[in-house]
Amino acid sequence: MPVTVVIGSQWGDEGKGKIVDLISQDIDIVARYQGGANAGHTICWEDKTFVLHLVPSGIFHEGVKCVIGNGVVIDPVAVMEEINMIRDLGYSVEGRLHISHNAHLIMPYHKKVEEARERWRDAGAIGTTGRGIGPAYVDKFARTGIRVVDLLDRDVLRKKLLLSMEEKNAILQNVYGAEKLDINAIIEEYVEFDKLIDPFVTDTTDLLCSALRDGKNVLAEGAQGSLLDVDFGTYPFVTSSHPTVGGCCTGLGVPPTSINRVIGIVKAYSTRVGNGPFPTELLDDQGDELRTTGGEFGATTGRPRRCGWLDLVALRYTSMINGFTDLAITKLDVLSNLEEIKVCTGYKVNGSSTNRFPNDIRTLEQVEPEYETFPGWGTDITGVTSMDDLPTEARDYLTFMSDFLGVRASIVSSGPKREQTILC
Ligand code: GDP
Ligand code: IMO
Ligand code: MG
Repeated sequence: MPVTVVIGSQWGDEGKGKIVDLISQDIDIVARYQGGANAGHTICWEDKTFVLHLVPSGIFHEGVKCVIGNGVVIDPVAVMEEINMIRDLGYSVEGRLHISHNAHLIMPYHKKVEEARERWRDAGAIGTTGRGIGPAYVDKFARTGIRVVDLLDRDVLRKKLLLSMEEKNAILQNVYGAEKLDINAIIEEYVEFDKLIDPFVTDTTDLLCSALRDGKNVLAEGAQGSLLDVDFGTYPFVTSSHPTVGGCCTGLGVPPTSINRVIGIVKAYSTRVGNGPFPTELLDDQGDELRTTGGEFGATTGRPRRCGWLDLVALRYTSMINGFTDLAITKLDVLSNLEEIKVCTGYKVNGSSTNRFPNDIRTLEQVEPEYETFPGWGTDITGVTSMDDLPTEARDYLTFMSDFLGVRASIVSSGPKREQTILC
């Protein structure tokens, strides 16, 4: 009963959507296990490009079922918009998309609290996506959250919303000096979701575990990236969930023993959106060039992504905590025009070298990256589909990365489209 987990190994936007869409062709069920509409997963084939925020990236293969698991926080407005977009494109959704009855909901007050809190943090703001993710997970763990199942009972929903919003209004007004919410308007808007969402709601843990017992293949699609994990990332500049491998078990209800493959998605350089330490960041023309060539603008917020060299110290750490069995290396084509390419293989901290990723951000903010320099390959590799057609310098770059991490690369991506891929 095999589960494959796809995990972002850096700070998100590694190309998870492309890889999940590609490999889900041979999969029975694709399931999202954490995060919410803060994710923006881009899928391209032929002349088509779509960005998904909540619906798993297997939805464009008619034979594949998709699950939004209990660990995801769901904005009912966002999920219905996405479902309608997929329907309008001519893909079936009923009977193929299943939403956990236990998943927590994102409500308008979560976004309001987040906005007020970010303003209040001022220079220490996290630079969130503004999708209400943090406050929704806070309510989940404070045991005051509202779940998908609550949408199906108007009386229960009314009671829960009233209680929660009275508290939120007190916080918004008295702590953050922000405007009050119109409680009745919100209640009336959200009670209408019962019929819309009902056809999709089910016990997804039972669905997944039964499928695994029947020998079906499940692909768990991580959102965000390991360095944004609330425990293992660059706290507090992280998201509020567990993109790392453990999140798959708690966010879907599948046993750890069912996982037999963990694919780390590695962008061939580094990017980060939002605030927080980023040792290999390039604040010069080189960074701008990577951003332009790589189209590094957020798929959810449109914000320019911070760009920098590949950081193997950080990657060795995320490989260690996730136990990557293989790597999918994306966006190698973006490096095509560079004369030389740098890779961080160590950090200098207080005058001495280390290859350990520090787990406190004060140290991480001070480290100086130590680089190895590789020659560029001077030819455009966009769309290459075979290892043999890659220039030696590009293959050397990949080999160095794999050897350093001790994990083989099973997929190399040479362009945004499904078909622009090397299977190794
Ligand atoms: P995700 O959040 O990990 O799914 O990644 P995003 O979709 O936010 O960002 C990745 C971006 O890179 C998207 O615009 C993809 O279409 C694009 N992309 C993915 N793989 C490749 C690749 O190998 N080469 C190039 N040039 N673009 C890629
Ligand atoms: P995908 O799945 C990149 C970042 C935000 C911010 C921090 C916290 O597309 O890779 P949040 O809204 O989650 O509370 O913001 O996390 N962030 C992402 N960065 N890709 C993402 O998702 C992200 N989701 C959140 O920019 O720094
Ligand atoms: Mg993204």
